[in-house]
This record gives sequence, C-alpha cells and structure tokens, in this order.
Amino acid sequence: MEEKQHFAVAIDGPSGAGKSTLARSVARELGAVYVDTGAIYRTVGYCAWKQGIDPAAEEAVCALLPHIEIAMGYDGDGLQRMYLNGEDVTKEIRLPQISMYASRVSAIPEVRAFLMDMQRDMARKGSVVMDGRDIGTVVLPQAEVKIFLTASVEDRARRRWEELRERGTPKEFDELLEEIRQRDHNDASRAAAPLRPAEDAIRLDTTGNTFEQSRRQILEIIKERLGQ
Ligand code: DC
Repeated sequence: MEEKQHFAVAIDGPSGAGKSTLARSVARELGAVYVDTGAIYRTVGYCAWKQGIDPAAEEAVCALLPHIEIAMGYDGDGLQRMYLNGEDVTKEIRLPQISMYASRVSAIPEVRAFLMDMQRDMARKGSVVMDGRDIGTVVLPQAEVKIFLTASVEDRARRRWEELRERGTPKEFDELLEEIRQRDHNDASRAAAPLRPAEDAIRLDTTGNTFEQSRRQILEIIKERLGQ
C-alpha cells in the first residue's frame, strides 16, 4: 500500500478570528508550510486598487487576470511573501483599504478559479496548514484535518483594532466593527464558495481565549486527527 507522504490542515473562518497567526504558529510546530490564501486574494485586490478598477466590476476585474502573474515565496522566518508581476507587494496588500477590495474580487468566480491551482499546488508539494474561507469545502476537500475558527464580532474587531494600532495605522473601533460585519456578510452571502464550515470540520470558538489557549486547542485537534 502506498504510504501517504504528507498531510493538509485546512483552517477556515471569518475575518479576524486569529486564523493567520494561529495557523502560522501551528505550521511551524508541525514542520508544515503555512499558506495564507487571503494574501493571494489581497494581491488581486491590490492590483485592482492600483489600477483604479472598481473591485465589484466583474468584467473589468476579469480583464485584468490575463495580465496578472502571482507568485509566493517564503523568507527566512517562514513569512509568506507575495509577488505581483515580479514586484514584492507583501506590505502593500496589508493596507487597510485593500481588505474590502480583496473581499469584493474574491466574490468573482473567475478570480477564484484563477487562483485555485496555485493553492492546490502548495498542498501537492508537501504538508501544509492552509487558512482561508473555502479551504475545507472547495480547495482541499480531502484535507486530513479541517478546523472552522470563529470568535464574536466584537472580539474580532478588538483584535483588528490592536493589530492596526501596533502597525501604526489606527482606526476607530466602531468603524472596524462595521467593516468586519460588512466583510462577514460579503464572504458568507456570495454565490461562489461562500464562507461556511465543511461538514467534517471541527468548530472552534476562540472568543475570550488567549493566543496560547487557542494554539494548544488547535494542536490537540490536529494531533488527534492525524493519530499522533
Ligand atoms: O483572510 P483575509 O482577510 O486576508 O482575506 C481577504 C479576503 O479574501 C476576505 O475578505 C475573503 C477573501 N478570501 C476568500 O474568499 N477565500 C479565501 N480562501 C481566502 C480569502
């Protein structure tokens, strides 16, 4: 019998539930590659923003796709870097205005199809912890472990508020709360691969948890599922 060489952990959930920091830390502990798929959508969103294209204008966004080359790389700390037509846009895709652009372009089926192979390729090459919205349902339905991470909208807005303040680009709490509600609505109500837990996903609510508590819970789930 052929022995399986590697595993995939899919971590899905709404914005701000702590997916990326948790997934990155857990990947390091397991010796797997961390794949932040939101960063890939952000790269397309950034491209639209830079070119002054309305991210909700499907035709205009689709017309961009043949001219876009997206690549991923990792620096010494395991930090994922994103390249748009050869230019390193790792920092730019985190600009606050890009969140909504990414959310809008990600609702376009052609954009999702365009980015699919790139995501699946990563899991073909080796063990991954991949986070996003549709990893367990669409991108890697065969993933050995699927976790759906949630937290209350207030908790998620508070984390985002702290993150932006630390980054030196603060925003009002109420504005962030509204933005997260809006993004939740966009991500969950779109027709193409809406945000929803896979049937075999384990749900984990991190409301009120410290980072360490959530990290331990996730590692326990993964180790149990992988039979380690
Ligand atoms: O995780 P994030 O906030 O960086 O993601 C940015 C946007 O990309 C988010 O609003 C939804 C979208 N996205 C998606 O539709 N599917 C994914 N697998 C990952 C992100």
